[in-house]
Amino acid sequence: MRTLILTLALWVPALAFAQAAGQQAPHPLPYQSKDKNLGVVTCASSLCHGSVTTWKDSNILQNEYVTWSRVDKHATKAYQILFNERSKKIAKNLGLTQPAHEAKICTDCHGYVPAKEVQGERFKISDGVSCEACHGPAERWVKSHTAPGATHAENVANGLYPTDDPVAQAKLCLSCHFGNKDKFVTHRIMGSGHPRITFELETFTQTQPPHFVIDDDWQKRKRQWDPVRVWAIGQALAAEEIIDVLLDPKRSRDGLFPELVVFDCHSCHHSMQDVRWTPRLGIGPGRIRLNDANLLMLKQIIRRTLPGDEKNYNDLVLAMHKAVAGEGGDAIDAARKLRAGLDVVIAKLSTRDFSNEDLRSILAGLIEDGMNGQYSDYAGAEQATMAMSSVMNFLAKRGELKAVGNANKALSGVYDAVKDDEKYSPQKYQAALSELRKTVSR
Ligand code: HEC
Ligand code: HEC
Ligand code: HEC
Ligand code: HEC
Repeated sequence: MRTLILTLALWVPALAFAQAAGQQAPHPLPYQSKDKNLGVVTCASSLCHGSVTTWKDSNILQNEYVTWSRVDKHATKAYQILFNERSKKIAKNLGLTQPAHEAKICTDCHGYVPAKEVQGERFKISDGVSCEACHGPAERWVKSHTAPGATHAENVANGLYPTDDPVAQAKLCLSCHFGNKDKFVTHRIMGSGHPRITFELETFTQTQPPHFVIDDDWQKRKRQWDPVRVWAIGQALAAEEIIDVLLDPKRSRDGLFPELVVFDCHSCHHSMQDVRWTPRLGIGPGRIRLNDANLLMLKQIIRRTLPGDEKNYNDLVLAMHKAVAGEGGDAIDAARKLRAGLDVVIAKLSTRDFSNEDLRSILAGLIEDGMNGQYSDYAGAEQATMAMSSVMNFLAKRGELKAVGNANKALSGVYDAVKDDEKYSPQKYQAALSELRKTVSR
């Protein structure tokens, strides 16, 4: 899992002139677009995005290609690992007739394979998760995006994918870092040897590594940026993706059983001697629990920022857990209602600003939930850890965290407690949190 180290820097205040981050009309994901893909070579010239150093007078870095091709795993690993032994084994266990690097079921996420008709002459699958995999096929915007006076909105109208919009960005990243209706890592693929997938939008945006700088100029050209909002929206979209699996007749079942990937892995995969059941979900022991890590994060976000929606949200989540466990109500109906509730939350979060007090309160709530045993499932503890470190990082950047050194030390203790999902102990996690709590209280 990725570890974020807290840094101390001056916070750039939200800009008054930036437009509110409203909901945009749905934009097709890059692989769904009908425009032609021109290939990475088109972007890579040293006068465009392939400069070895950053350009002083440009409003972008211009070395994006160099960052991507040298240190971004989307370029250096995503596609290449399909040739390794582990991938060969996965392909063999699944009974694929093609090798992993040619099988659509793998290249859909480990590379960028738009329809044949939209692959331009210089487009290469071996480029991996390339510029156009995220920014959209360049056919219509490649010329216009460098024209003097071209605005971001015009580029987006010409097919540039709006990666600056947190909702659109979350959909894009989650399409591969969780899956969607077109591509998906099932329990069968995991049972064949594929790793569990971890994702948290804000943390992963920071660790990609970024080939962009979000400064005044970026915000003037694009929109006001609030990393807490990105985190919150990422949680809501991830929760929706899980619910969408339950609602999708094609993905929700596997033979007699439901698709297991949406459940807490460790509700099945742990030793029987270690009885972990706690009444936290309001459902009885011996049930398979839905993976509710993102819903737990949202609970804290909503409690603090949308208190009027808190009760309704908690009721919808409880109804969902009970219905899925067969303890009352129809699961599909409960899933639909919760999903509709999440849509409302996303719309509200998209325009919400997060104050220092919000951050402190969310952080305190996460720690308290953890101390009360709400994260006895590994997935919850893992998300909570990334959330706490992101929130602490925001506080540190805003100069709101006093003893950054001590906080960092305590935070690495918390990271240690979730380093290995097989060895996860809820008790050790709680002990690490109690150390963390001491360093963040005022
Ligand atoms: C829905 C998207 C998706 C699909 C489909 C998918 N993968 Fe993955 N795969 C990922 C992501 C994301 C990771 C990184 C997991 C992490 O580190 O959190 C990954 C990780 C891996 C790894 C481990 C990589 C490493 O660096 O150790 C292997 C091997 C792998 N995938 C092979 C395959 C093969 C073979 C297939 C086809 C059968 C496949 N994947 C299908 C998204 C996908
Ligand atoms: C995994 C997805 C991904 C890939 C691959 C990717 N980018 Fe980006 N890129 C982003 C995100 C996210 C942003 C930040 C949001 C924004 O500015 O739109 C961004 C921002 C940018 C920016 C805007 C910086 C600014 O200040 O406005 C440029 C230019 C850019 N990328 C170029 C490239 C090039 C060139 C490549 C390929 C060499 C590439 N990107 C590959 C996701 C990606
Ligand atoms: C087309 C599919 C695809 C898209 C879209 C995508 N990724 Fe990835 N990403 C991958 C795969 C596959 C890997 C795994 C590479 C490996 O470790 O083998 C990966 C790896 C990463 C890693 C490195 C993880 C690690 O364990 O070191 C980060 C960080 C990341 N992605 C962030 C993002 C973000 C942020 C976005 C959205 C802006 C995004 N990705 C969009 C496929 C994708
Ligand atoms: C409802 C129970 C259940 C859930 C939930 C579940 N699994 Fe499984 N898993 C199983 C069973 C049963 C097998 C087959 C075991 C066997 O063949 O011995 C299995 C096999 C596996 C295997 C292959 C292990 C082997 O020895 O062959 C992996 C890896 C795996 N699961 C990962 C996961 C991950 C990751 C998750 C969560 C995203 C998950 N499982 C969720 C029940 C579950």
